[in-house]
Amino acid sequence: MAYLRLFDWYQTNKRDLPFRKTDNPYHIWVSEIMLQQTQVDTMLPFYDRFLTIYPTIQDLARADIDEILKVVQGIGYYRRFRMLHKGAQYVIDHHDGKLPEDYFKILKIPGIGAYTAGAIMSIAFHKPYPATDGNVIRVLSRVKMLEDDFRLDKNKKKLNEMNKELIENSNNPYLYTQSMMELGATVCKVSNPLCDTCPLQEVCLANINNVQQNYPKMSPL
Ligand code: ADE
Ligand code: SF4
Repeated sequence: MAYLRLFDWYQTNKRDLPFRKTDNPYHIWVSEIMLQQTQVDTMLPFYDRFLTIYPTIQDLARADIDEILKVVQGIGYYRRFRMLHKGAQYVIDHHDGKLPEDYFKILKIPGIGAYTAGAIMSIAFHKPYPATDGNVIRVLSRVKMLEDDFRLDKNKKKLNEMNKELIENSNNPYLYTQSMMELGATVCKVSNPLCDTCPLQEVCLANINNVQQNYPKMSPL
């Protein structure tokens, strides 16, 4: 991976987003829960309102779930906020109200899976754990021309291992996660990726072979 070009590109081109201006692990947790199923533009007003009303884990944990659901009314996928509420109560009960800086402890929190645990570890704590979301799947499958269908669990697991090695070798887990997600969201788009402006264009096998649109591969299931 051409880390330095990727990181330079990110630092010059990153969008100015509120969840990139905080190092509060709880705020990063909330942002990643919202971003998993909702586009940035849509989630931003919900993110601001949510953290104004529930600025700390304690505030969220002691809130009423029906009030929480009113605060996020309109965003969709409401089960994640029931889980986030349970997760906040779990952190109060098991970790004294503070997110632990330990991947496996974070993974045990209700509502937090491998993706969210990796995002919190790398973005909030600057530790090398992979956050393999749809953006990262698309970028890596194109850069390396991977032939697997990553809708299948076993293939996704394999890609997550590759992403783990890449973040371990990156020397900057925070910048790795942020820049891969930003590249996937703004340059390596689902259709018509902007390869002419991409920091990975010289190393990207799909670009070199002009077969970007064939990746990620989707076999008939
Ligand atoms: N999608 C999920 N997490 C993100 C992040 N931290 N930045 C941009 N897009 C994202
Ligand atoms: Fe994606 Fe194109 Fe960049 Fe390759 S060169 S990572 S296909 S935007």
